[in-house]
Amino acid sequence: MDFKKVVSHCKEYGFIFQSSEIYDGLAAVYDYGPYGVQLKNNIKEYWWKSMTQLHENIVGIDASIFMHPKTWKASGHVDAFNDPMVDNKDSNKRYRADVLVEDYMAKLEGKVNKEVTKAAKRFGETFDADMYKETNPRVKGYLDKIAEIGSRLAKAMTDANMPELKKIIEDLEIACPVSGSRNWTDVRQFNLMFNTQLGNIAGEEGKLYLRPETAQGIFVNFLNVQKSTRQKLPFGIAQIGKAFRNEIVARQFIFRMREFEQMEMQFFIAPGTEMEWYKYWKEMRIKWHVALGTPEEKLRFHDHENLAHYANAAVDIQFDFPFGFKELEGIHSRTDFDLKQHQELSGKKLQYFDPERNENYVPYVVETSIGADRMFLSAISTSLQEETVPDADGKESSRIVLKLHPAIAPIKVAVLPLLKNKEELTSKAKEIYKLLSLHFPCQYDEKDAIGRRYRRQDAIGTPYCVTIDFDTLEDDTVTIRDRDTLVQKRIKINELTGIIEKEVSMSLLLAKLL
Ligand code: GAP
Repeated sequence: MDFKKVVSHCKEYGFIFQSSEIYDGLAAVYDYGPYGVQLKNNIKEYWWKSMTQLHENIVGIDASIFMHPKTWKASGHVDAFNDPMVDNKDSNKRYRADVLVEDYMAKLEGKVNKEVTKAAKRFGETFDADMYKETNPRVKGYLDKIAEIGSRLAKAMTDANMPELKKIIEDLEIACPVSGSRNWTDVRQFNLMFNTQLGNIAGEEGKLYLRPETAQGIFVNFLNVQKSTRQKLPFGIAQIGKAFRNEIVARQFIFRMREFEQMEMQFFIAPGTEMEWYKYWKEMRIKWHVALGTPEEKLRFHDHENLAHYANAAVDIQFDFPFGFKELEGIHSRTDFDLKQHQELSGKKLQYFDPERNENYVPYVVETSIGADRMFLSAISTSLQEETVPDADGKESSRIVLKLHPAIAPIKVAVLPLLKNKEELTSKAKEIYKLLSLHFPCQYDEKDAIGRRYRRQDAIGTPYCVTIDFDTLEDDTVTIRDRDTLVQKRIKINELTGIIEKEVSMSLLLAKLL
């Protein structure tokens, strides 16, 4: 589905609003509306239970957003959590230097795709796209250029070589999309952490950061958790919470936000076993996405070319967002970097006694880290569909439907009296609503024709609609309509809860992970 349609659907149906919209909004900050918050909570519940409930050796915590400032010195964020920034002197617009170069590469890729599509039409069924890319001089030229720029960019980023980044922008003659000029400042490092000040301490001493990742709250609590829950290695600590990054490029809706939520799990292991666990978590995480209904072809692994300062192996799970394949989740083998750094700066031992090896050591860590908001965008963009279906009179009509997995749908069932002005129908429907609302998030709706009410529920992803009609008053039966198949069945009121429960249950979804 077109990205603009996804964004406008989210607003129109109460999933996501821009923050402080009446003041023209705040860039890259968003609020979740009534259906958005339910969907996001359900995604978080699925993640949380898959970690802490399905693994007896994973426990959860909820650490504070503020942490001792030394935390961020130890983790490397004060010195190394930077993005390269460049300003255009004519438009006064600020850009990420690496993103300008990536956008240039994406344009070349666009040219390649255009040529390939044209050639495919020309040659028909016998067309071999890979062979064409290797042999057509113009297309090969583009591809070689993309590869050359890519490796130059990766090296400049790994070496944090700002003059080289500026040189790449100059060599490629990249112009500012706003002013059209090539009048650039030098490329400078920009630290992404927001900071604030403690009330009672002036100056640098009282400087506090808003955490840029939730992981550090887990590292500093490693021994507290291990001792209080008597865990043996390997074991994991999971956490869901807000993180803050002063992103230079704020675009693509909730993909890149300045305030967002992470779902992170740090898995503490014996040194030397990290590759085995890295592989395990890569497989587990893909399984989690697929069980929720994300098509496998929309997911792929992407190995990091320039590793973060803490990692010895790192991979992204990329998802095919409406604007292309981009990072959805990261899986990182962080070695003993973080615990060792905290040990050094705090002066407190962060070691584990391994009874099997009969030795003390600082554990290694493999982490899985996914943004709840990116997962939300992935779920919405997978499930939002426009399709043609027969309407009540059997005529073809189009509908917008959100085919979310029932376990994460914000509303599980809508209760609809056939007619609004028949008191006996509405009071029976309200009675059924009361009964169902003990078990599920439900909605009662009596306004407009039944067909329009079905469409409203389709648009917010409600898997079941229950209709109360005159037969209900006679024999205590209702019709239940399935969002995806549109099949309507007549069933007894006392069977409703059991039938719906089976379909929307989180346990059934979790069972796919075993
Ligand atoms: N602890 C490791 C860590 O934070 P990361 O790759 O920087 O790694 C992990 O972030 C995940 O957090 C990303 O895969 C993404 O889903 C999410 N994320 C990162 N920055 C984000 C932003 N500005 N807006 C929304 N989500 C973001």
